[in-house]
Amino acid sequence: MSAPLIVLVGPMGVGKSTVGQLLAERLGTGYRDTDEDIVTAQGRAIAEIFVDEGEGAFRALEKEAVRNALAEHEGVLALGGGAVLDADTRALLAGQRVVYLSMDVEEAVRRTVLNAARPLLAVNPRKQWRELMEARRHLYEEVATVVVATDGRTPEEVTQAALDAV
Ligand code: S3P
Repeated sequence: MSAPLIVLVGPMGVGKSTVGQLLAERLGTGYRDTDEDIVTAQGRAIAEIFVDEGEGAFRALEKEAVRNALAEHEGVLALGGGAVLDADTRALLAGQRVVYLSMDVEEAVRRTVLNAARPLLAVNPRKQWRELMEARRHLYEEVATVVVATDGRTPEEVTQAALDAV
């Protein structure tokens, strides 16, 4: 059975797809993203799956997408930011080389709200980000073999730090 060289986890907006593609280039390998796999297989956007069927249904699809990608893909694999919430998905990551791209709350607010076009959609983004990070940080750390902080770093710098760390 083949296995990815590197699995990327971390919160939305941390740069998993940008860094994942840079890592794949540097390693001369392919890049795959379970969010994209789900959209392709379902023929609809992730937001639609959430709205129509709820988060539980999305997590079930995500678990299968992670299982398939781990079995099929040799290269760099990025998971959705909430994939670690599912205990079965976390168990699938045992024995893999998992890089957790981390960022602090202020960096998350800057990247996802302050630099975004529609800041008013977020009612209290700092509080929401704090709660999300508190709920998930230990799960990212549980599955990670390496943690790479992204705060204040360019995607190229993060990619180099990940390569140095694995
Ligand atoms: C989610 C993150 C998203 C996507 C979905 C749910 C989350 O992936 O899987 O919208 O719960 O954090 P990205 O981290 O690639 O944005």
